[in-house]
Amino acid sequence: MRELTQKNLVFGLTGGVACYKIAELVRRTKDLGASVDVVMTSAAEQFITPVTMQALSGRPVFSNIWDSRPNDNMAHIQLSRQADAILIAPASTDFIAKLAHGFADDLLSTLCVARGNCPLLVAPAMNREMWAHPATQRNIQQLREDGVIILGPGHGDQACGEFGDGRMLEPDQLLSEIRAFFQPKLLKGKKVLITAGPTSEAIDPVRVITNRSSGKMGYALAQAAREAGAEVELVSGPVNLAAPYAVQRISVESARDMHKAVMQRAPHSDVFIAVAAVADWYVTNASDQKLKKNQTQDSPQLEFAPNPDILAEVAALADRPFCVGFAAETEQLLSFAEAKRRRKNIPLLVGNLAQRAMHADDTELVIFDEQGHDAWPATDKLTAARKLIQRIALQLEP
Ligand code: C5P
Repeated sequence: MRELTQKNLVFGLTGGVACYKIAELVRRTKDLGASVDVVMTSAAEQFITPVTMQALSGRPVFSNIWDSRPNDNMAHIQLSRQADAILIAPASTDFIAKLAHGFADDLLSTLCVARGNCPLLVAPAMNREMWAHPATQRNIQQLREDGVIILGPGHGDQACGEFGDGRMLEPDQLLSEIRAFFQPKLLKGKKVLITAGPTSEAIDPVRVITNRSSGKMGYALAQAAREAGAEVELVSGPVNLAAPYAVQRISVESARDMHKAVMQRAPHSDVFIAVAAVADWYVTNASDQKLKKNQTQDSPQLEFAPNPDILAEVAALADRPFCVGFAAETEQLLSFAEAKRRRKNIPLLVGNLAQRAMHADDTELVIFDEQGHDAWPATDKLTAARKLIQRIALQLEP
């Protein structure tokens, strides 16, 4: 999905070791369809060459305010007028100080002062002491008050050998922030709780009973909700996926663990989206030790008891969040899914055909509510997730 097609971005590089990471970011942003203009300070040119950035962006790189290539010699005006956003990464201590005070003594700082309404995103990159310095903190505070979006910084090992706050966010994190920036903030200030993936019910310490679920839909929804400005908690069964950036993942194994994690959080949530494929039963006579296949000639006799219905329980809370369920059916989707919505007493249920949706990257959803149902065309799961978040936000409005 080339979701940044028709977006014009300016990447401003200032002096920092992290400059090399922006080479990767340019490539990945372009892969999503964006056009990227790179502007470098002379300090940035000490860390990575304009040739590299030009080759990757496919466009001329600007660094000198006296550059005569733009027709009217006004790169500082032209670049920001065409841009949908400017990202300064890495943003050095010095450049942040310049921005906070409105200095305009090179192309990049002049461009920022001349940018008008063009949004400015800043990803600081510096030693932990430089980050913690009261002057830097004052400058960051000033930039926030001026409407600048500060991305990070991260925490961890630093190029200087020290450890702490001040690392620039990684390219994939910066890319997540850029993608999120272009999504409408429909759930700003809301808390969203999501379950995803399968659960896994122990037979013995090495064997489990589980459901087929990749977790892709639940993880896409967590990403879409966070892009929409929500604070997201993702209670996830065992899956092979990285947690979406800036989403808090709570990893669980069994349905009863998932139930516990959800019931602790649901009363403080505004929205609950139950995407997980929860096992309907757990094994009551699970063995503490591995069952040996040569111990007996007979197959083990498993006994089952029903798992709690997490969604139905949340929906029954006195002060319940807005509840959304999922139903994966193998047949009679329309009647089974609507029956499930009524039985669980929830305002919105999303149906899909299990054989098509499971493990796939695309999905075809049918949305059920009080008014009836609405079949959406097949799309990738992130597009479907963003659309569903828009739908939820509409229904949340008083
Ligand atoms: O398993 P079933 O088809 O009934 O699932 C429908 C919805 O209920 C899904 O949203 C699922 O996440 C949720 N569910 C749950 N707890 C269960 C079973 C299902 O939250 N024990």
